[in-house]
Amino acid sequence: AAALGGLLPASVLAQKKLVLGFAQVGAESEWRTANTESIKSSAKEAGIELKFSDAQQKQENQIKAIRSYIAQKVDVIAFSPVVESGWETVLREAKAAKIPVVLTDRSVNTKDDSLYVTFMGSDFTEEGRKAGRWLVEKMKDQKGDVNIVELQGTVGSAPAIDRKKGFEEIIKADPKFKIIRSQTGDFTRAKGKEVMEAFLKADGKKINVLYAHNDDMAIGAIQAIEEAGLKPAKDIVIISIDGVKGAFEAMIAGKLNVSVECSPLLGPQLMQAVKDIKDGKTLPKRIVTVESIFPMEVAAKEFPNRKY
Ligand code: AHR
Repeated sequence: AAALGGLLPASVLAQKKLVLGFAQVGAESEWRTANTESIKSSAKEAGIELKFSDAQQKQENQIKAIRSYIAQKVDVIAFSPVVESGWETVLREAKAAKIPVVLTDRSVNTKDDSLYVTFMGSDFTEEGRKAGRWLVEKMKDQKGDVNIVELQGTVGSAPAIDRKKGFEEIIKADPKFKIIRSQTGDFTRAKGKEVMEAFLKADGKKINVLYAHNDDMAIGAIQAIEEAGLKPAKDIVIISIDGVKGAFEAMIAGKLNVSVECSPLLGPQLMQAVKDIKDGKTLPKRIVTVESIFPMEVAAKEFPNRKY
């Protein structure tokens, strides 16, 4: 802009588009697809130029993308970190280049919170607690053990760590709740199915509950349960997180008991933050998304209102 300063009138310079570099996790789930769509369409609507990259669930790809945004001198960098740790170096590089960073959806594990401007997204621990509270209520009259299998999200990711923590925090109050197996399904349908097949092979009818850290893994697992000749949501109670349309369809079909909401529609908020940063406004360090929980009984009524 400085080089053009002498050539272009101030009114034209004032209209120069803000440039946002966004390093996305990947396309692992229905949730992520909706998140990408929200970011792309909101950028368009806000008149912000978006440079978008898909890291295919690999941290090194995300780091590369962030470095390229630094080299391109974008106005703001935003990203949803694949895993929680290992970001200090690249975030320091962004800070040294004076490029503000916004964390969306997932947070990073750092003691230095000057490395980012704000973190907007869900409270994953609370989502885990909601799942736990729903289960405790559902099983309140059950006398014997409740054997739970857990499909974890991506190893080392904030939602996998926090959803596990929040759920365990609630169920530990009653020793009848036992997590008998817990393994990652990497937030994908294919992996959710594969791991559930292994759980069923090992424990079969012993399994009373499946807790999946996202809807996609639950949907994959439902297939495995049906192929094993069992009835999902009846023989095995199924709890998952996100509230995507696929989950609502599964609930309406009577195959999923409950989905805890996690909204991917962060685009408008992110674009507002980009503008506010450029206008010199101070943003809160944490912006938490307000969310609900949808048991199968309300799915048909809620379905027409779902936006993702
Ligand atoms: O970080 C949010 C999680 O990532 C969603 O729950 C999951 O579906 C996605 O892949």
